[in-house]
Amino acid sequence: MKKYRVKYICSNCGFESLKWLGKCPSCATWNSFSEEILETNEKTVRKKEKSGTSSFNINEIESSPESHRTTNSTELDRVLGGGLVAGSVVLIGGDPGIGKSTLVLQSLGKVGYKSLYISGEESLRQIKMRAERLQVVSEALFLMAETNLENILNEIDLRTPEVVVIDSIQTIQTDLLQNSAGTVTQIRECTARLIEKAKKDGFSVLIIGHVTKDGTLAGPKVLEHMVDTVLQFEGDPNHNYRIIRAAKNRFGSTNEIGIFDMRDSGLIEITNPSEIFLSNSSSKVNGSCVTATMEGLRPLLVEIQTLVTPSHFGNPQRVCDGFDYRRLSILLAVLEKRVDLRFSTTNVFLNVAGGLNIYETAADLAICIALATGLTDKLLERNLVAIGEVGLGGELRQVKFLEKRLSEAARLGFKTALIPPTNEPLPDIDNMEVIRFPNLRDTLHFVMNM
Ligand SMILES: Nc1ncnc2c1ncn2[C@@H]1O[C@H](COP(=O)(O)OP(=O)(O)O)[C@@H](O)[C@H]1O
Ligand SMILES: [Mg+2]
Ligand SMILES: [Zn+2]
Repeated sequence: MKKYRVKYICSNCGFESLKWLGKCPSCATWNSFSEEILETNEKTVRKKEKSGTSSFNINEIESSPESHRTTNSTELDRVLGGGLVAGSVVLIGGDPGIGKSTLVLQSLGKVGYKSLYISGEESLRQIKMRAERLQVVSEALFLMAETNLENILNEIDLRTPEVVVIDSIQTIQTDLLQNSAGTVTQIRECTARLIEKAKKDGFSVLIIGHVTKDGTLAGPKVLEHMVDTVLQFEGDPNHNYRIIRAAKNRFGSTNEIGIFDMRDSGLIEITNPSEIFLSNSSSKVNGSCVTATMEGLRPLLVEIQTLVTPSHFGNPQRVCDGFDYRRLSILLAVLEKRVDLRFSTTNVFLNVAGGLNIYETAADLAICIALATGLTDKLLERNLVAIGEVGLGGELRQVKFLEKRLSEAARLGFKTALIPPTNEPLPDIDNMEVIRFPNLRDTLHFVMNM
């Protein structure tokens, strides 16, 4: 006879099932189910009765604009929507080793208000040494090496910090549950209790969560709907820079990104991101073209690089890094059908320089130019920027924020901009020629004769 009620919970998304499943019906992850003991407090909950009302007339409630506490990092503040909101809970997810602890320690080690950094992963000495390396040893920073939730909540009562960091949620455990740390029930319960306390006492919480691909540790996906803000910390292992973006934000836009350079001395903010996403080799190239993409409200110039080679085997290869593979196939089909450029016997490799990901169709035109010059070996000057969506008929379509994109290109010294027909008033740009084209065929004709 079983003493406890047992459920199986997907460690990736929190889907619950009464029997073990090989594949999660909710998020399609394999082998993500683990057995978890559930305790219920149904009796006590049912008995709960209250006298008197506890709702308020809307006029009785005092409203005040949300105040944001700065994290002392412009990039992090931007992504948060201006800083940390009192009582808010922020989840920072990312692969192990990407720099989550560094980012948080580096920011909070410098702020003037009281913060409590709780680590379940490292010793106090290790954290101190890291803080020294990052040069952020501050009077207002308190460290605690602890994994027990009750001890943590108790320490919060004693220290009354304004910001609490939990590094990481996978290591924290409450005495109320019998499961081990890192299980979905533990993670959910600990987070819920931290959220409750944060809302009540008005401090902000930063919860760090590891994302693991194999699903052995419960992914922060389970927490996404519980917290106010979800930040993703991303980076390419081959590059030093890191990007932080908001996947969800109750207090700001989800379009903003923060860009950092990971160095020994910590994460350096990159205020001029366009410059790092442009490669600076020789002046003439083929197979490559620069576009201006938008990351939130910031324009970012990025270089699209392609390699077009003859394919000696039956199936030509299409390899795509940093861009949607299906979109590439569509653009190749448009080039074949509308411009008579044949890619059926060539391999196509496409890479967005610097390891950035582009999700925007505004990069279409630059990709087509890169592919066309890659196929024909046409050399282009590096001072050309192309912006525009390419339709299935080969027509060029308008994109948003054209003015911002063009201004950024002009600022960085680009001399020619190729854009779709547009009604948008364009900025006065002295040193850059802006040329509008109705379709891809005309644009490529112009490019090939440059
Ligand atoms: N002593 C050190 N000197 C220089 N860089 C270090 C040192 N220790 C760690 N790092 C850098 O910091 C990264 C780990 O960052 P960390 O903040 O611990 O990641 P996370 O918390 O996301 O697991 C490592 O990948 C490494 O690049
Ligand atoms: Mg860490
Ligand atoms: Zn799942």
